[in-house]
Amino acid sequence: MEDIVLQVKDVTIGDKKSGYSIVDKVNIEVKKQQIVGIVGESGCGKSMTSLAIMQLMPVNIAIKEGQILFSGEELTALKEKELRKVRGKDISMIFQEPVRALHPLHKVGKQIEESLKIHTNLSKEDRKKQTISLMKSVGIPDAEMRYDQYPHQLSGGLNQRIMIAMAIAADPSLIIADEPTTALDVTIQAQILQLLRSLRERRGVSIILISHDLAVICENCDYVYVMYCGQIVEEADVRTFFQSPKHPYTQALIQASPDPEKKIDQLMAIKGTVPSIENIPEGCRFAERCPHKTERCTKVEPKLYEQNDGTKVKCFLFEEGR
Ligand SMILES: Nc1ncnc2c1ncn2[C@@H]1O[C@H](COP(=O)(O)OP(=O)(O)OP(=O)(O)O)[C@@H](O)[C@H]1O
Ligand SMILES: [Mg+2]
Repeated sequence: MEDIVLQVKDVTIGDKKSGYSIVDKVNIEVKKQQIVGIVGESGCGKSMTSLAIMQLMPVNIAIKEGQILFSGEELTALKEKELRKVRGKDISMIFQEPVRALHPLHKVGKQIEESLKIHTNLSKEDRKKQTISLMKSVGIPDAEMRYDQYPHQLSGGLNQRIMIAMAIAADPSLIIADEPTTALDVTIQAQILQLLRSLRERRGVSIILISHDLAVICENCDYVYVMYCGQIVEEADVRTFFQSPKHPYTQALIQASPDPEKKIDQLMAIKGTVPSIENIPEGCRFAERCPHKTERCTKVEPKLYEQNDGTKVKCFLFEEGR
């Protein structure tokens, strides 16, 4: 038990006004030093799930049910002031577009230092030393000179490294990276992912890596969750996942992708569309697009059935286990 860092337990996230659920009874577990992937089409609820872990959802969105446990402590029960200590110190986030997350008018070095100011007792002088050492550790050349620069003076890749330095400044045990490389070109992408993997080795952090990109998931994760329309439809260790994808949705994703570099949204060879949250059908949410659909699928919702190889699949084809 003690190697479990994060447990998302039966979490449902909904719109306060309309009452519609955006994320439905999601369970996710992250172990120490594990890199866990979340993959799924645009709008399926990946970002909302990760924002819920940090309790940073938009104001109109709330967790309706479920618990989020970090090292056994229930985050959902904490007050805003206590949560502020958790953010950055225990869990930190890296987003897709560093330029939007960084303050345009503050020097990048100072922005990293801010994290140290909030979460450590270091003196001003030591904070600067520590910042420069962090910048070097994430592969920023000429760190002393870069310290005094502004985000617009840095490339996208360097700004993402600044974001990563900020994220690790207070030595968190979990980093949530939401499409951290989507805005970067392929070479820089590979370097940033390599850096994230090295943080797991060097610092023992766990990482949740959210991506549209099956190749990114395949190359970087130990374990993967597939989301479809607000629900987890399959979870498996990454090798089993790519060797024997089980859910018809997952199979379609992988088979429709002769080129693993392709992003999910570019290869939607699967007929039909994702139901909208105002119009969730009874039964399986994928049924309308599923080649194996039976009448039962349109009436009864399947559970996540555990298989002999440890995979869990939300589909009646796997009800008896395989
Ligand atoms: N502020 C909001 N108010 C109401 N609904 C929202 C809000 N933000 C997002 N949603 C809805 O929540 C659902 C999940 O969105 P989310 O951003 O988590 O998807 P995602 O899987 O991260 O997609 P992407 O891959 O495009 O980043 C979507 O249907 C979206 O329309
Ligand atoms: Mg998102």
